[in-house]
Amino acid sequence: MSEVVKLAVTGHCAVITIDAPPVNALSAAVRRGILENVMAANADSAVQAIVIACAGRTFIAGADITEFGKPPQPPALNEVIEAIEGCAKPVIAAIHGTALGGGLELALGCHFRVAVADAKHGLPEVKLGLVPGAGGTQRLPRAVGPEFGVKMIVSGEPISASEALEHGLIDEIVEGPADGAIAFAKKVVAEQRPLRLLRNDDSKLVAARADRSLFTAAAAAATKKNRGVNAPLACAEAVSWTLDTPFDDALKKERETFLRLVNDDQSKAQRHAFFAEREAVKVRGLPKGVKPRPVERVAIVGAGTMGGGIAMSFANAGIPVTLIETGEAQLTRGLAMMQKSWEATAARGGIAPDEPAKRMALIDGKIGLDNVRDADLVIEAVFETMAIKKEVFTAIDAHAKLGAVLATNTSYLDINEIAAVTERPQDVLGMHFFSPANVMKLCEVVRAERTAPDALLTATTMANRIRKTPVVVGVCHGFVGNRMLAVRGLQGEALLKSGALPDQVDAVLTRFGLPMGLFAMGDLAGLDIGWRSRQDRGLRWDIADAICESGRLGQKTSKGYYRYEPGSRAPIPDPEVEKLIDETCKRLGLTRRAIGDQEILERMIYPMINEGARILEENIAARPGDIDVIWLYGYGWPVHRGGPMFYADLVGLKTIVERLEFYARSLNEPALKPTALLARLAREGSSFASLNAARTAG
Ligand code: 3HC
Ligand code: NAI
Repeated sequence: MSEVVKLAVTGHCAVITIDAPPVNALSAAVRRGILENVMAANADSAVQAIVIACAGRTFIAGADITEFGKPPQPPALNEVIEAIEGCAKPVIAAIHGTALGGGLELALGCHFRVAVADAKHGLPEVKLGLVPGAGGTQRLPRAVGPEFGVKMIVSGEPISASEALEHGLIDEIVEGPADGAIAFAKKVVAEQRPLRLLRNDDSKLVAARADRSLFTAAAAAATKKNRGVNAPLACAEAVSWTLDTPFDDALKKERETFLRLVNDDQSKAQRHAFFAEREAVKVRGLPKGVKPRPVERVAIVGAGTMGGGIAMSFANAGIPVTLIETGEAQLTRGLAMMQKSWEATAARGGIAPDEPAKRMALIDGKIGLDNVRDADLVIEAVFETMAIKKEVFTAIDAHAKLGAVLATNTSYLDINEIAAVTERPQDVLGMHFFSPANVMKLCEVVRAERTAPDALLTATTMANRIRKTPVVVGVCHGFVGNRMLAVRGLQGEALLKSGALPDQVDAVLTRFGLPMGLFAMGDLAGLDIGWRSRQDRGLRWDIADAICESGRLGQKTSKGYYRYEPGSRAPIPDPEVEKLIDETCKRLGLTRRAIGDQEILERMIYPMINEGARILEENIAARPGDIDVIWLYGYGWPVHRGGPMFYADLVGLKTIVERLEFYARSLNEPALKPTALLARLAREGSSFASLNAARTAG
């Protein structure tokens, strides 16, 4: 008897219920339970139809990802699906929640599928660097047509019940999943409907088989955007077999591809990212029983680039916001930007036409800091100057209600120092969002020395509510992400002095998979920001400063590390910059040399990894996986490379230590020496993955 799969017969209908929380993933026990019960129901002469349903919050959400890479346990999912397909009685999948991956593949093996109205259906394997491995690439296109099928499988995006009905993926939308499926089963039996085996149904393939051009165009459109990632192309190829390869042969090829990709570093990286994100959002070390404080209204101070984006994120989640500025002009400009942004989304079809007005109605614009009084959470996003932050927090402290959580969006400043100007440092912390704040998923939640556990939990809970990924970090200059970014910036400057040019460095980074190069990103953000911050800290970067001193402040002046044609954001390498770099180096007595791409990659990435290790030594981040999540969601690190710390393990920590020692020596830069933690892990033959496991368990 299976513990996780139960069989009940009501009337002439057998209902097989899977009950394996949290998401009914297809572990070996679940597969075995389904197989046994399907065979039992099929053999029971009193049974005329079989329903497969799930208990809990969702239909089967896929294969059990934790089993990947381990020795396979019988029965294989394909075997279970074939048993279902081969039943002499109609088998109906009763879908609620999310039918994903192997879950949808199992449903596709059923003869019929019904779903509740808010159910989602998808094959997200591509997001784990995989192709569907249990017939999804062959049965889904037979249900919905190969053009729509390739789009669904390559994007991995789920579709709603109404879309599923429209495209023929499900047969009916029902009210309750099991009851609806039983009623549907009765109809099927009464009408003696023939069993539909998708494996034998090529009706939706006929047109594409006669003229492949439509499919080729759909596959090309679906795979257009991928940057050096293997799975999307493999998915498209697998779907193409529906047009020319017999079903069983295609199934065999699909399985081989799945097994090849499961062992590929890209899939390992993507699976690491999946679990790292889910670990990162869990706040550890909190006293038992601590609860988040209730939050009904949020106040955002500052309606600039960040304040506006943060306010939009809250309004998007239906949470009312008081948006506070110093004057009418700033407030009006801020509100107008938000409205424009929502209207652009509505025009693209991203939200309903009435949504911009609904969301604007949730934002209450006000002048003056006394307006924080009704808020349960206050987020400050004013200028990045300590004196101003202190002034603003003193005023917030005077007006905010007792128990309100007070957050700053500072990028670099010392939050302990900000908290100290208030009478309630236990309520103060950082909520560091990333630009554009209404889009980027990351929120570094910065725990200051005296932050209370329930204040911290309130911040992470609220970040989750607005669909961000919160990662708890400690106080230091730049926290985790920007601190590592600063190290990379410094190495960029050093590379230019050694002989590289901005476009050469950027090309290496974009080929690696980052969305933008270091210097193009600087031009986009504005070079004066870093210049001013260096001046404040008494630092001089000879080349970067010389560029700014010549009036080149980036895209806003049409010139920076690159030049820009009027109205264009495309960076064009500029001989004037090369001349400026040459002259600066001559003045400093430096000889420039040709630099290879491998050296650029190593000098860009390895010092960041070293800084990540230092951050772990100082416990500013709890786990290597947290650092990876920060880079994946805050800086566009390519997911198929898992994050900088995951990438370090792939390269091998011994190699990274050797190369850092080499550069520290040859460039005479002691700061590049491997940190004690990195050196120890390398010496012990260990990895960040082991450290991650130890710190997650501990
Ligand atoms: N295998 C193992 N564990 C899984 C899992 C899976 N497929 N899906 C989710 N989980 C775990 C999560 O790790 C998490 O565990 P935790 O509580 O210990 O951290 C727990 O279930 C709950 O997950 P979420 O926090 O993500 O819950 P949500 O409600 O936010 O989301 C979900 C639910 C939409 C189902 C989301 O978890 C998800 O997208 N899961 C992955 C789905 C997927 O990729 N399926 C395809 C797998 S590959 C496959 O099926 C191969 C086949 O073709 C052979
Ligand atoms: P911004 O200059 O676009 O906006 C700041 C706004 O604050 C202005 O509209 C200003 O009028 C308002 N303001 C100033 N003093 C105020 C006061 N006393 N009361 C109410 N409003 C006041 O600046 P931006 O870029 O939005 O940055 C804000 C904060 O967010 C800074 O601390 C910055 O470091 C941080 N940040 C910025 C990011 C970015 O990419 N721009 C990314 C992450 C954090």
